Amino acid sequence: MDPASSQSAEFFLYELRVVAEAAARAAARFAGRGPGEAGPAAAGAMRDALNQLSLDGTVIVSDAGREGAEFMVEADRVGDPSAAHKLDLAVDPVEGTRFLARGMTNAMSVIAVAPKNMLFQPGPALYMEKIAAPVAAFGKIDFNAPIPDRLAALADALDKPIQDLSIYVLERDRNKKLVKQIRKAGARVSLFAAGDIAGALMAALPGTGIDALMGTGGVPEGILAACAMRALGAEFLGRFDPQQPQEAKALKDTGMDKNRWYTRNEIVASHDVQFCATGITSGSLLDGVQRLDAYERTQTLLLSGLNDGYEILTAYHRREDT
Ligand code: FBP
Repeated sequence: MDPASSQSAEFFLYELRVVAEAAARAAARFAGRGPGEAGPAAAGAMRDALNQLSLDGTVIVSDAGREGAEFMVEADRVGDPSAAHKLDLAVDPVEGTRFLARGMTNAMSVIAVAPKNMLFQPGPALYMEKIAAPVAAFGKIDFNAPIPDRLAALADALDKPIQDLSIYVLERDRNKKLVKQIRKAGARVSLFAAGDIAGALMAALPGTGIDALMGTGGVPEGILAACAMRALGAEFLGRFDPQQPQEAKALKDTGMDKNRWYTRNEIVASHDVQFCATGITSGSLLDGVQRLDAYERTQTLLLSGLNDGYEILTAYHRREDT
């Protein structure tokens, strides 16, 4: 590991934690208050926190626009343009926007960085079919094989019978066929209403009861999940899965191939990848932002491709109104 990348891992991971916490705290104020305000508030907090840092960041992939924000969208520059560290950013200020609006569980603020030109640019793609699986399955699933064969390879890699596999799938009409195929092959399906970054993380982290994420969700969430999986050494594969004719046409016009599976290392071309997710509302992985007298308590998952293992960090922030 060279000194520059060592500095990047040691320094920016903890700086990013502050960024994700700021976004989550801003978004949490709007939990259960209906749609509209949480996304822009979280994106603004994320941008302000990033602008304090000595990095020259370009947003490559973002879900902020879909959340109603005008900043932290693709091509935005943050930080200090003269900074030595030139970084690519992938951001989702509120992962689970609709969940949060309804006061439901599992919303998170998510950010990942990699050195400049190391994150895949998905162009006009909006939806992606994804597979995420634990470290033990890395490189062992033939993604072009039929679903039962993919599950058999996963079961082999995890040294358990197919019947004991639990696959996280977003509950969407487009994933119905997949759900049937998984059940027919003998595995269990855990259907979730939203949040496939959480699904990928649950597949890769121990003790969650989830063995893999499969099915189609958003592209920004796919790139962020790939960052997390690369940092953890786990498996991730993605292929564009346009849901509307205009999305398919836009992909074709830019020469992007919707039949090609992109590997984790094609999506994130450096192991110097840093990832943070802070809970906004409590979920299966992280506690949400909690008000405790003069403090707000946050929980953040920190992953670095330069570290073995991971951290879940609890912080207490003095509230500005106290
Ligand atoms: P939002 O923050 O945009 O609500 O994303 C939540 C989510 O469930 C993602 O995890 C997933 O990738 C995406 O929505 C799927 O999109 P859609 O809800 O349009 O099927």
